Parts: sequence; C-alpha cells; structure tokens
Amino acid sequence: MILDDHTLDGISEHELHEALQALKAERNAVFLAHYYQTPDIQELADFVGDSLALAQAADRTGADTILFCGVHFMAETAKILNPTRTVLLPDLEAGCSLADSAPADKFRAFLDAHPDHLVVSYINCSAAVKAMSDIICTSSNAVRVVNSLPKDRPVIFAPDKHLGAYVQRMTGRELVLWDGVCEVHVDISADKLKLLMGKHPDAKLVAHPECPQHILADADHVGSTASLLEFVQRDPAQTFIVATEAGILHRMREAVPHKTLIPAPAHADNTCACSECPYMKRNTVRKMYTALRDRWPAIELPEDVRQGAERSLRRMLELG
Ligand code: 13P
Ligand code: SF4
Repeated sequence: MILDDHTLDGISEHELHEALQALKAERNAVFLAHYYQTPDIQELADFVGDSLALAQAADRTGADTILFCGVHFMAETAKILNPTRTVLLPDLEAGCSLADSAPADKFRAFLDAHPDHLVVSYINCSAAVKAMSDIICTSSNAVRVVNSLPKDRPVIFAPDKHLGAYVQRMTGRELVLWDGVCEVHVDISADKLKLLMGKHPDAKLVAHPECPQHILADADHVGSTASLLEFVQRDPAQTFIVATEAGILHRMREAVPHKTLIPAPAHADNTCACSECPYMKRNTVRKMYTALRDRWPAIELPEDVRQGAERSLRRMLELG
C-alpha cells in the first residue's frame, strides 16, 4: 500500500520505516548513504561510506533505483555511472558550498585562462565541471591522483583550495587552486579547538583535509571520513577530537564504544557544539519515502555532459 502525505503525517516512526522497506522491495531499490547523514538514515542504508566508496558502490549496483542519501553531486555521480537506472535524492536542495563555488561558465573561463593545464577536480563539483576535467579525485585518493599525472604538465586543482593546498604539501607539486571552500570545515574554530586540546592533552586530533591548514597543522591524522573512522579504530589512543562533520560520530561511536570521541567546536554557538552540514541534514526518512513513492526528485543529465563527466570519473575509478 502506497501512503499519501496525510497518512504519513499520522504514522509512527516504526510504521514509516516498515512502509519504506516495503516500498524499497517493490521498487527494487538500494539505499546508499554518506557518513554525514543522520543516524536513522545511516541505519536504514544498505551501504554507508565516504565519497569514493559510495561512487564505487553506485558503479556496481544492480538495483533498478538508487536512493542516494547524501548531497546533489553524489547523486549526480551515481547517475553519471548509471544512465539507465533511476537515481533519487530525498531533497533536491541538498547542495554543497564547494560544488556551488564553481559554476560551469566561470570554470570554463578559468580553464581558458590556463591553457595546457591538466585539470583535477574534487568529486564535490557539478557534472558540468567534471565534464571539463581530466580526472576526478576524492579526499581519499587526491594525493594518488595528482601523483599519477605527468610531471611536466602544470595542474589545476578545483574546487576546494584547502584540500588542494594539502595535496600540494603532500606531493610537493605546485597546483593552480580554484578559490572554493567547504563552509562546514572552514567554520571549525581554531581558538575553541586549542582550548579543547588543552583540556584533553592525551586526545588525538583527526581532521578532514577540507579543513584549513591552521587546523590540519595540529592533526595527528588527516584523511577522508572513512580514513578517520579507520584511524580511531586502529590507533591505541582512548580520546579523539574529530574535526569534520558530526555525522561521522555515529559510526565511530558504534565502532569504538569504549573510546571518547569529541567533535571539534564550530565558530557558531549552535546547539550541538559541533559542525553540521546544513545540506546533508536536509534529508529525512520521510523524504526518503516520498522520493521513492513519487520517483522524484530524480537526477537527469544532458547526455553529452554525462558522457564527459563519466570519462573523468572512470579515470579515477580505474586508479583503484
Ligand atoms: P569524504 O566522505 O569523501 O571524506 O567527503 C567528505 C565530504 O565533505 C562530502 O561532502
Ligand atoms: Fe559540501 Fe562541506 Fe557539506 Fe560536504 S560538508 S556536502 S563539502 S558543504
């Protein structure tokens, strides 16, 4: 039975979850979720991962429908790799400040001003920008991707200038950086973080490379969400300060319930005293249900853009 909006208003969380599972089976759907989604969404997902693992999971699925619980560029990536499948995003407004920082027309003009450059784009960008890029990277393989490029060619790195600066330091390679930032990671307060580290001298700091250098400089480990999760499990320390979006803490707490995990504080005096991505948090379980029910919002792309974006994405996937 398909539930209308009025019925959805009156049912319990448990009933909503049951209805969602029934609809999922009917639609032969798979639920993919990023670590920044709320715990209830992560628990409902068939697969939870970082951007690279999610792209790989999207690439190998046999489901008719992919319900992508993440942000727009992630669902778009799934569609680029799966043109014949239906790809749904629970909330079309789930965007990304990094992807928004690089509109296609301005990016084209930037590339025209830098002829002969190879173009590496972070996966947090639009399909149109991917189509203009030579190769895509994520935070887990950016260093490897840049190291794979011929040494005699100048390289543009877009759109995250902090990840780009980090890759520059790690590879020793000069990169031309696009001036984009993740509004969530640049909002982590260095002053409050110093105070917190003072209070917890034994804590190790783990940080996402979208953070500015003044945060990364103090970090014991820098990596993608999956890499941070893996580090807190592997490292013998008992207390960690986690400098990334707070959604990752759900999986971390499950993985190391005996360890103390403290979110790095944001500038804003928000209620969670942590960093939350307002775009990631637009998705809800109810919106998962209505997206699957209405087969909307569905991701659609012009075929020429999709093919161009697939070329640069596949180059990354082929690197492994
Ligand atoms: P990863 O999960 O690939 O580290 O990406 C973080 C992020 O900001 C996604 O938007
Ligand atoms: Fe974009 Fe930052 Fe949100 Fe990730 S956390 S989706 S990079 S705004």
